[in-house]
Amino acid sequence: MIEALQQKAATLIEALPYMRRFAGETLVVKYGGHAMSNDEAAVSFAQDLVLLQSIGIKVVVVHGGGPQIQTMLDRVGIKSTFKNGYRVTDEATMEIVRMVLVGKVNQEIVSRINKVGGRAMGLSGADGGLLIGRQVTVGGEDVGRVGVIEQVDDSEIRLLTDGGLIPVIAPVAVDADGEPLNINADLAAGAVAAHLKARKLLLMTDVDGVLDADGQVMSTLESADIGRMIDDGTLSGGMIPKMKCSADAVAAGVRKVHIVNGRIKHAMLLELFTDSGVGTEVI
Ligand SMILES: Nc1ncnc2c1ncn2[C@@H]1O[C@H](COP(=O)(O)OP(=O)(O)OP(=O)(O)O)[C@@H](O)[C@H]1O
Ligand SMILES: [Mg+2]
Repeated sequence: MIEALQQKAATLIEALPYMRRFAGETLVVKYGGHAMSNDEAAVSFAQDLVLLQSIGIKVVVVHGGGPQIQTMLDRVGIKSTFKNGYRVTDEATMEIVRMVLVGKVNQEIVSRINKVGGRAMGLSGADGGLLIGRQVTVGGEDVGRVGVIEQVDDSEIRLLTDGGLIPVIAPVAVDADGEPLNINADLAAGAVAAHLKARKLLLMTDVDGVLDADGQVMSTLESADIGRMIDDGTLSGGMIPKMKCSADAVAAGVRKVHIVNGRIKHAMLLELFTDSGVGTEVI
């Protein structure tokens, strides 16, 4: 009995240097729509966030919701296609994207964090000029209301983190005319992390990390290799925006970007409180 308790004490002591290292720092976590679909891991994710916040880390969550958007599009009978991992977003699709991300997924995450004792507050990029974007084409093709971030106003994020709250951000931006834009959540998280000069950006997804051409998890990936890996097809679909935002975040001064499997229980703590970490680090 006492040994089991001492083991618990040892675990806490082991974590101490990491807690010290990260106290006062900003951590941006991109919580992918695929990672969310494991209920048990979703609860442990919320618990991890609350723990990290209570040891003085400023935690900011940006979430995705690809599968949840797809479910609703199917339900209302809207067909959807992708171009290089970006959802082609006509006006009707944009309406669903906004409804699902801001009205459903965001609120579910906020509730889950609050249920386990945290204080989270939901925001979308449209709130208070948080995320201002610009419509883009992908591979020279019109993909509708898909955008990239041009401007981040982090004042409300700072207000929340300084006030002991966890901001949970839905990746819907507005353009210069105030019209909504569908922003890939990785890109939104990357822009927020770069702007806040976050110590770390964690991209929580549904794979153990970036897989190489042989299907093996790469423990590190150099941003200089990303272009080649996209060209030869090693990186495809949703991994492309993830790698682009990682490279940009690193270039902007974010010290570490990690791709982590969010379906594993307590994946965030395993990543933060061990030397080697789990998943893939982009350098
Ligand atoms: N080289 C690669 N290594 C790992 N995954 C890859 C690779 N190339 C493509 N992928 C795909 O990228 C997917 C992850 O991106 P995806 O956009 O689907 O999820 P997400 O970003 O976590 O969720 P959401 O888009 O809802 O926020 C993986 O499930 C995998 O199918
Ligand atoms: Mg994605």
